This record gives sequence, structure tokens and C-alpha cells, in this order.
Amino acid sequence: MSKPLRKVVFPVAGLGTRFLPATKVVAKEMLPVLDRPLIQYAVDEAVDAGADTLVFVTNRYKHAIADYFDKAYELEAKLQEKGKDDLLALVQGTLPRHVRAIFVTQPEALGLGHAVLCAKPVVGDEPFGVVLPDDLIWNQGRGALRQMAELAQTEQAGVIAVEEVPHDQTDKYGIVDAEPVNERSARIRHMVEKPKPAEAPSNLAVVGRYVLPGRIFQLLEQTKPGAGGEIQLTDAIEALLTEQGKVLAYRFEGTRFDCGNKAGLVRATMHMAMQDPSLAKVVREVAKSY
Ligand code: UTP
Repeated sequence: MSKPLRKVVFPVAGLGTRFLPATKVVAKEMLPVLDRPLIQYAVDEAVDAGADTLVFVTNRYKHAIADYFDKAYELEAKLQEKGKDDLLALVQGTLPRHVRAIFVTQPEALGLGHAVLCAKPVVGDEPFGVVLPDDLIWNQGRGALRQMAELAQTEQAGVIAVEEVPHDQTDKYGIVDAEPVNERSARIRHMVEKPKPAEAPSNLAVVGRYVLPGRIFQLLEQTKPGAGGEIQLTDAIEALLTEQGKVLAYRFEGTRFDCGNKAGLVRATMHMAMQDPSLAKVVREVAKSY
């Protein structure tokens, strides 16, 4: 993958059933961790990785995401009039000026692989990133996607983020069988979608960050529905592996919070609150009172 990463796809067309009833009207990606919605953390990570084109794969219920990144004329005029410059900067800073947001629709929730395929007309034939905003990855230094984009360029290969998970949870993830190259990367031999713990080749689970070549789109077009009747991204990556022989699994630097479920969202919120001394005090007080 010779070109640097410029485009990042955010598949956000899922139904978010684990947060019902809130997700009847609030997109899961708009749930806040403190004062920022999940999608903002994901966008910041993509921009940090060098992206200037963000592709949101949404459905007809998720207009709030487009509204969030759009100009808020009335609010901005009011804040300007009142001289509230810090708040104005916050409102205007959701998307840097050099970055464009493009929205495409996934007509039916046919799986993550299908959602990524919907971005094909915008991405074309170049390497791109995929970020699932419900996996919030916090790191003090380089963001996880930037680490992966740099590796993809030096190694000329697709890169998939992985993390060790408890053995009894392999059936919740795509699991890789991989040959270690160094402390953080490994060459993938094989991938399995949600294997039972007894059948899992390892406990290295695929999490929500990928850097992939444009070729993946043709492979997705040929992918038949797999686990759960959905078009699985994992199956297309398996095909890429067979074809190109080299796809890397990468153990990123940073802490991942699975904000697709309530426990993860609580953890992420507490973690972020602990970074702010005045809020850290509140977290400690509350924890003590229980
Ligand atoms: P999840 O498996 O978390 O599903 O999708 P979900 O619908 O978002 O949430 P639950 O399980 O019902 O609570 C993983 C990612 O893939 C996207 C989701 O938006 C999420 O970012 N996705 C999934 C799509 O964009 N389209 C799909 O058809 C399926």
C-alpha cells in the first residue's frame, strides 16, 4: 500500500439494539462520553492518522450525525454576538476545515462487510481506514489508527487491530491465528468469526480498526453472507489473505473501551472523567459513597 492513508470509513448504520430505548431516536454514535459524542473521538483519531476525507455509512434514522458535523448558523451567530469565543471554537471545531465529510446510505443492515462495501464509490482503489466508533481507543501519544497507517505503509500490507480478550469471550469477536513478527505485530495465518472458546485458534480478537487496500471492495462483492446471515468483513479479509499472502495483526498502544455496551460506556466515561482533576474528585466521591 504505497499511498498514505487519506480516506476513513465509519460504518454507523447498525441498529444499536443494546442501547434501546435511547437508540430509538439517538444514534448510538451520538451517545456522549462526558461532553463529546462517540463519533467525535473516532473522527479525531482519523484526522490524527492523516485523513482528509471521512465517509460515514449511515441509515435513514441517523441524520443527527450529519447535523453534528454541519455548520450551526443560529447557534454560532448567538455565541459570536455574546463573545463566547471558547464555546464558538468548540462548536466550529467538530471537523477541521481541511477535512470533508461524505455521507452514503446503507439501505439495509446487511452486516459490517456490506456497510464497508457501500463506501466503494467514494473510496475507489486506494488504501483506506475503517473505524468503528463504538470502540473508543484512548492513547496519550499517537492514535491507534495512525500507528496502523504507518505500519501499513512501511510493510506494504493491510493491518488489522487486535487485542487479547479472555478465552471465554472468543465467541463475541473475530479471532486471528497469527505468527508473531515482533512485540506488536504478527502475520495473520487465518481468521475465524466468533468461534466457540474450544475451537478458537487464539485469544487475539479483531477490534474496530482496519487499514485495508481498495482491492477489498471486489472481494466484498464476491463475499456470500456468513455468520448470522450478514456479509462479514472478516470473510473478505480471509480472501485478501489468500490472494496477497500478507495481512498483519497489530496490538496497538492504547486502551480500548467497548462503548457498544453499557459497561464499556460507563468505563469510558469514568476513565475520561479521571483525566480531569475536578471530575476525578467527583468520581472518587461517588465510588466511595457506594
Ligand atoms: P454491532 O455489531 O455493534 O451492531 O456493529 P449494532 O447494530 O451497531 O449494535 P447492537 O449490537 O444492535 O447493539 C458493529 C459496527 O458495524 C456497524 C455498526 O454501526 C457498528 O459501528 N454496522 C453493522 C453497520 O454499519 N451496518 C450493519 O449492517 C451492521
